[in-house]
Amino acid sequence: MEKTTTQLSTPWEKYRAEFPICQRKTYFNTCSLGALSTRVASAVRQFTELWDVSGAAAWYGPWLAEIERLRERFAALIGAWPDEIAIFPSVTTALTAVASAFDYRARPRVVISDLEFPTTVYQWLVKEPGGVTLEMIHSPDRLTIPVDEYARAADAHTQLLVASHVYFTSGVIQDIAAVARVAHQHGAHCLIDAYQSIGQLPADVHVAGVDFLITGGLKWLLGGPGVAYLYVRRDLAAQLRPTDVGWFAHRDQFAFDIQRFTYADGARRFEGGTPSVAAVYAGRAGIDIVAELGVSRIRAHQIELVSAVVDEARRLRPAHTEELAGIVTIPREDPKAVVAALSQRGIIVDARPGLVRLSPYFYNTPEECAGVVAAIAELEKQGIT
Ligand SMILES: Cc1ncc(COP(=O)(O)O)c(C=O)c1O
Repeated sequence: MEKTTTQLSTPWEKYRAEFPICQRKTYFNTCSLGALSTRVASAVRQFTELWDVSGAAAWYGPWLAEIERLRERFAALIGAWPDEIAIFPSVTTALTAVASAFDYRARPRVVISDLEFPTTVYQWLVKEPGGVTLEMIHSPDRLTIPVDEYARAADAHTQLLVASHVYFTSGVIQDIAAVARVAHQHGAHCLIDAYQSIGQLPADVHVAGVDFLITGGLKWLLGGPGVAYLYVRRDLAAQLRPTDVGWFAHRDQFAFDIQRFTYADGARRFEGGTPSVAAVYAGRAGIDIVAELGVSRIRAHQIELVSAVVDEARRLRPAHTEELAGIVTIPREDPKAVVAALSQRGIIVDARPGLVRLSPYFYNTPEECAGVVAAIAELEKQGIT
């Protein structure tokens, strides 16, 4: 039974109370979709109220201001400058803009791994007939990619190295600074898919030296679908001319000049059309929660929660020593059957081929960590594996 507001003692309990689903379910699926908070719900209500009260005037006043506020809040979270951030409705649209900025003739090679999320691979897979050579590195253990493999694959014809910060099927953390160093040794760029890291794992893009980083609202940033973020290093953005752009990428978008396209300064030159403003409101409220708690504090708590899952799950999964972010996978013969059986018990997890994924976040408790694994072990006894 949940405690009443006056009985809540730790900050974790207080923040947990902002996520109503935690009172009804054991929610262990942040790596698919972060739980909805009352704060995010009320930010979306604020968006519709402004629309209702002001009509189109909402655009030029509070909505555009909210987009800039979001850019600032996200930049602060990853140690960037606000002008290094572009806002998109999905990671795919951000990738399309990035991919359109390169001249592949002298450097056709894009080095990527077989642990990346499909949308990141597809972006360059479909460009192979157009002159891109996709170099796929294979993970030796399905958990991570040794940075040496990137070093072996990169050469003077490499345009881009693509790597996840946290792998979506294993939770293992990649050394993105090392990937960036390899790229730069060959005069190439690196792009980091940080969808599974930002929010739960501290990141400083300037210290890491990465060129591009993408993430979005769906998961650890608690903003839901419809908002994604692209970081482009300031000096690099100044040199690039993306060809997939919209009017938000123009230096003076409200001049409506159709004779000439003048690129905006900074990462904004990668942007497209009208952003999903409802998602911008949700995205900002989600980031506010993460920033208030502090990513370092969240990470320290995540280590406790992940350790509680791993300790409990020793019998069910191979032990490996790599540092894990908040995703723990358990190999199962029929993961979808396990997910469905757990759902009937009020436990929400998800499946990937051959795996059940458990992803605790700060709104979960150590007791829930133990309970989820115990439920999977119980199902195994019943033959649901
Ligand atoms: C690592 C990773 N990249 C990208 C995505 C999604 O990209 P998009 O915003 O294009 O749907 C996800 C999850 O949905 C993901 O886990």
